[in-house]
Amino acid sequence: MKPANIDLDEIIEHYPGRPDYLIFLLQDIQAAFNYISPEALQLVCDHTGVPLSQAYAVSTFYQSFSLEPKGEHEIKVCLGTACHLKGAPRLVEELERRLGVSPGGTTDDLKYSLETVNCLGACALAPVMVVDEKYQPSVTTKKLDKVLGELQQD
Ligand code: FES
Repeated sequence: MKPANIDLDEIIEHYPGRPDYLIFLLQDIQAAFNYISPEALQLVCDHTGVPLSQAYAVSTFYQSFSLEPKGEHEIKVCLGTACHLKGAPRLVEELERRLGVSPGGTTDDLKYSLETVNCLGACALAPVMVVDEKYQPSVTTKKLDKVLGELQQD
């Protein structure tokens, strides 16, 4: 979510207008706004001289960049084999029902983004989800209640 005191122009003017600053600019914009808007991407291109097609390719190549608005809280549910067998699809359904958003989507209030991923490398702890980069092992419906309850208090 965009902090109220961060200005896109300030971020852009912070760096020299050269192509080699593209990644730094994208990183700062992503960090400040939690995504890179089409307007921001165009301004970065205007400033650095990088063609829009190239900046777009870079933005879509790195998973840390998002061209879509993301929620304040990112919830990733593993649907790899081990997690699938331990009930992860039910967790996804429960999250869809409670948040009112499908995997790949973000709630209208920009509070939550829901994603599914393939194997988080913690199969012994299945089913696993990652909430705001924190691993949540052996997730049950009860644990889901607790995690969502904590997020709602933010
Ligand atoms: S399958 Fe989910 S962590 Fe490996």
